[in-house]
Amino acid sequence: MPTRDPQPLQRALRQLAPDIPVSIWPELADPAAIRLAVLWQQPADCLAELSNLRVVHSFGAGVEHILNDPQLPATVEIARVSGPRLAASMTGYLLEQVIPLQAARPKHALSIGLLGYGQLAQAAASAFIPRGYKVMAWRRKKNQDTHKNQDTHNFLQQEKSGHPQLSNDQNKKNMDTHNPGAISMGKSQDSHNLLAGKVKTFTTEKPVEEKSGHPQLVRQIKSIDTHVTSPCAADHDEVQIFSGASGLARMLSLADVLICLLPLTRQTRDILNAGLFAQCRPGSYLINVGRGAHLIEDDLLNALDSGQLSGACLDVTRTEPLPDEHPLARHPKIKLTHHTASLTDPLEAAAVIAENYRRMQAGRALRYAVDREAGY
Ligand SMILES: NC(=O)c1ccc[n+]([C@@H]2O[C@H](COP(=O)([O-])OP(=O)(O)OC[C@H]3O[C@@H](n4cnc5c(N)ncnc54)[C@H](OP(=O)(O)O)[C@@H]3O)[C@@H](O)[C@H]2O)c1
Repeated sequence: MPTRDPQPLQRALRQLAPDIPVSIWPELADPAAIRLAVLWQQPADCLAELSNLRVVHSFGAGVEHILNDPQLPATVEIARVSGPRLAASMTGYLLEQVIPLQAARPKHALSIGLLGYGQLAQAAASAFIPRGYKVMAWRRKKNQDTHKNQDTHNFLQQEKSGHPQLSNDQNKKNMDTHNPGAISMGKSQDSHNLLAGKVKTFTTEKPVEEKSGHPQLVRQIKSIDTHVTSPCAADHDEVQIFSGASGLARMLSLADVLICLLPLTRQTRDILNAGLFAQCRPGSYLINVGRGAHLIEDDLLNALDSGQLSGACLDVTRTEPLPDEHPLARHPKIKLTHHTASLTDPLEAAAVIAENYRRMQAGRALRYAVDREAGY
């Protein structure tokens, strides 16, 4: 994690799951003991010495840095961090961008087109709908079940019920004994601490707060879901879903505000291009919170200069941070933020990673698992 400080995640993991040994790359006492690696914009070669990896976990929602790593073993499972805090943060950012656009056009309720309708887009839709916006979404498969979001929903219900992600009756045996294996995370450039922790385990008999010895931290994690309605959009039926090229064209022709919340995959790279802008409703506004490589920057500049688009807000760019002299940074119709729409919360990340560590040990399916073929 060269661009993130791993210490808060390490602290949260140590307190939440003290029996899991954690090391920070490259100071790994025993690389062959590492079973799960947490990566974020990792340096080349960091996976090379981890010969017994079973899971590679993204520290964020995106996984392209993992899937594009030439050293990614073919057999490892991949998972990512998601959850209500990440979704709440993205939703807040999007409301902040859209509300002033609506205020400037008070006579007509804006229609919002979401490119991608996953965890984050569904949470955003749940906030837009009660505010009177018309919400449309484009996804890979029309009428696809919302299993991913149901998964998040179940996760939240578990937390509410007092049996949070660290415990599971079915796997109690696995958790009551020390789990061999370890977690490693890439360290930030300014940190060189070797981490290790082996302490007690959790069971379901007592509240996790008591067992952990860190009641405040665990309560904080359990309260995560109070910050946002479940990302499982209750108003799912009110969102008009589109798919395929013709569905995309239809949604583009109707949307006043287009929000890109797609993962970066072979299919979605460069998707925000001249051809797409030409299909947009004239005068529409683009918000890109996906990835910089979704956008052909020159095509956006042309669309803005011709008036086809009225403006754009970019949280992500191909070069990050964007130099002050870059044409995107100097354009009067572009608002820039610096990949801060939604930052991973270390507490939320630790909860998901610890849960997935338990699942890995128990041979169960991972939460927020990534489909390698689909690329997200
Ligand atoms: N700027 C920031 O601070 C920030 C923070 C977090 C995440 N992000 C970005 O946001 C992205 C989305 O996150 P998420 O958690 O919402 O992802 P997600 O739950 O995996 O959802 C992805 C959505 O994109 C759709 N999709 C994927 N490929 C597609 C294609 N070729 N055509 C049409 N739709 C396609 C999927 O369709 P199906 O529903 O049919 O599968 C799904 O609805 C992340 O990958 C990351 O790049 C940015």
